[in-house]
Amino acid sequence: MQEAFLSMSFLAAALDRIKPSATIAVTQQARQLKAAGRDVIGLGAGEPDFDTPNNIKAAAKAAIDRGDTKYTDVDGTPALKAAIVAKFKRENGLDYRPEQISVGAGGKQVIYNALVATLNPGDEVVIPTPYWVSYPEMVLLAGGKPVFVEGAAADGFRVKAAALDQAITPRTKWIILNSPSNPTGAAYNAEELKRLTDVLRAHPHVWVLTDDMYEHLTYGNFVFATVAQVEPALRPRTLTMNGVSKTYCMTGWRIGYGGGPAELIRAMAKVQSQCTSNPCSISQAAAVEALNGPQDFIARNNAVFRERRDLVVSMLNQAKGLHCPMPEGAFYVYPSCAGAIGKTGKAGKRIASDLDFVAALLEEEGVAVVHGEAFGLSPHFRISYAAATESLREACKRIQRFCAGLR
Ligand SMILES: Cc1ncc(COP(=O)(O)O)c(C=O)c1O
Repeated sequence: MQEAFLSMSFLAAALDRIKPSATIAVTQQARQLKAAGRDVIGLGAGEPDFDTPNNIKAAAKAAIDRGDTKYTDVDGTPALKAAIVAKFKRENGLDYRPEQISVGAGGKQVIYNALVATLNPGDEVVIPTPYWVSYPEMVLLAGGKPVFVEGAAADGFRVKAAALDQAITPRTKWIILNSPSNPTGAAYNAEELKRLTDVLRAHPHVWVLTDDMYEHLTYGNFVFATVAQVEPALRPRTLTMNGVSKTYCMTGWRIGYGGGPAELIRAMAKVQSQCTSNPCSISQAAAVEALNGPQDFIARNNAVFRERRDLVVSMLNQAKGLHCPMPEGAFYVYPSCAGAIGKTGKAGKRIASDLDFVAALLEEEGVAVVHGEAFGLSPHFRISYAAATESLREACKRIQRFCAGLR
């Protein structure tokens, strides 16, 4: 069948404003190359390589057998909301009531709901760079305007309080804070967060969306903190977002959640009620078990991630022209490739940007990573170390060889 040509007037103008996800694109490219027989190590995807724990799988199977296969309340079952209320209390010292909780199909939907439910054309959202690829695109889709504030490498990829203050205007509706961060792994401790919340206290029209997706993935002595806990005065205008994807190795199950003022939560449910309705009933039952069940595997997984982080940071710092800071959390590193810019690869291609760097690395050595430009801070690239340790060792060897071969 001949496909109709989609004219520009058929597609929504909003689509011109946004880019497809660069991280998903890299992951797909690596998959395609592998399927075509190339020896490719894909370090683009941000998901744990560990399987979902068995108790969580068993809870899902039991939910199917019990007949939990029907529509549920739009923004989460009472059982899951109760488990989330208990989680916020236990782990963050935060008191939320069930009507202050929203559950969506992944953290992604929770953020998107919040933005769609609140942004009017021209409303600004302050986004620290480097950022998770989806924030600016979601803001643009929702009709808002992303305003970037740099978290420079020299400052540990953290935003300075004065820079945040300057980025805020009367049109600012939200600031999105993500700690530990995707793509850098950098995290704000309570004291560092307080410096930012002090600024935000002085701007009562600004709401805070904290993306705490990597809360449990921190290493060494780092102690996680979140805005509503560090500065209770901001609680009436904070959405504390989290989810089970990363901590519980449940990326495919699609469950994320947020805690915030009931009025915002109701508005988010209104959005969700007209697009996806409830998140998968079976995944919700699994998430109840994830939050209420044994938590000891988290420390075991973290020990593995920490070893991998140390290995990758050490090996990358031995690669010519790279500099890799040691992150506090998540499972990403964000090395600078400034020392490779201006050089030429074996195939004769000059490396003028981090995009050229990652393209040549994939071509010459079969290692798939994501260019920093996609996260708003160049010249860097992101490696996800949520991959088998041996693959990481091999990938880093290849990166070292690639860098050594640049002239
Ligand atoms: C910082 C950050 N926030 C949110 C998400 C979304 O997670 P989910 O898979 O639950 O939608 C991700 C996933 O990559 C992430 O890295």
